[in-house]
Amino acid sequence: MFKIFSGSSNIEFAERMSKSFGKGLSDIEIKHFKDGEISVLVKEDVSDCDCFVVQSLCKNANDHLVEMLMISDALKRSNARKITAVIPYLGYMRQDRRCRYGEPISCKVIASVISQYFDRVITIDLHVSQIEAFFDIPVVNLSCFDIFINDIEKIEGFSNEDFVVVAPDVGASKNVRRYADRIGCQMIIIEKQRKRANESQIMSIIGDVKGKNAIIIDDMIDTGGTICNVAKLLSNNGAKSIRIYASHAVCSGSAFELLSDKCINSVTFSNSIPVNYSVVPKNMSFLDVSSTIFRS
Ligand code: R5P
Repeated sequence: MFKIFSGSSNIEFAERMSKSFGKGLSDIEIKHFKDGEISVLVKEDVSDCDCFVVQSLCKNANDHLVEMLMISDALKRSNARKITAVIPYLGYMRQDRRCRYGEPISCKVIASVISQYFDRVITIDLHVSQIEAFFDIPVVNLSCFDIFINDIEKIEGFSNEDFVVVAPDVGASKNVRRYADRIGCQMIIIEKQRKRANESQIMSIIGDVKGKNAIIIDDMIDTGGTICNVAKLLSNNGAKSIRIYASHAVCSGSAFELLSDKCINSVTFSNSIPVNYSVVPKNMSFLDVSSTIFRS
C-alpha cells in the first residue's frame, strides 16, 4: 500500500505523477500561521504505508524544505513504513562546492537534513551527479534525456546532419555528449568565463555552427544570461536556427523577456518547476516528466 502527498510547491507535478501511478493525491492540510510558521496535518491513515512526498525546492526553497520535513515528520509519527522524497528540482544544487574560503557547501547541508527525515530520494537532473554522495540515503537521479530526445526527433525537418547540439559551458559537455551520441550529430562547446555570480560572459565557441540548426542543452535556466549570450553567439556565427532544451525552469528576474529574443526559435523545459503559464513567451513550452517517476 502506498500513498502520495504533495507539498505546496508543485502540486500540478504531484497530480500528474499520481495519475501515472493510477491514483489520486492523499489528503493533507498545509497552512501558515500569521507569523509565517508552517502547520501540517496528514488527514489519512498511513500506518504501514510507503509514502511519497512531492516537493520541488524552487523559489522560496527554504520554506519548501521546512514544509517537506514537517510532512515527513508527521508521516513518521503516524507510523508510515517508508518515506520517499520526490524532489523534481533540488534547490541549492549549484552550491555543490566551496569557491572560496568562508563559504559553506550549501547543497551538502540541504542533503544532510533531507537524509535525516526521509528513507530515499527521487530527483531529476542533478546539476552534477556527485551530489548523490551528499545524501546518506539512496538517491535515484532521473533524467529528462529520453523525453527531450523524443521531442527533438519530432522537430520538423530534423536530420542529424543539419543539426548540432551545444554545451553552453564546458561543465555541460558530458551531458550534451550523450545527446550528440544518441542523435548522431556534432557537438559544439562554448567556453565561458563568469566574472560575477548571475552574470555570464562568453569567451569562445569550439566547433562550427555555420548553416546548422543548433540545439542548446542545459540543466537549468535561471536569469537566462548564460543561454541568451550563447544563443546570440551562435546566431552571430551563422546558426540557421536556435532551440533550447533545459530541465529546470528556474527563470528568475527578466528571464522570460530575454528568452523571447527573436534569435531563439524555441525554449523547452520540463515541468519540474511550476511557472505562471499565462505569462510565458510564445516560443516556450513545457514537457511533462512526472511519468519518469513511475518508471523509476
Ligand atoms: C551553470 O552551471 C548552470 O548549468 C546554468 O547554465 C546556469 O546556472 C544558468 O544560470 P543563468 O540562467 O542565470 O545564466
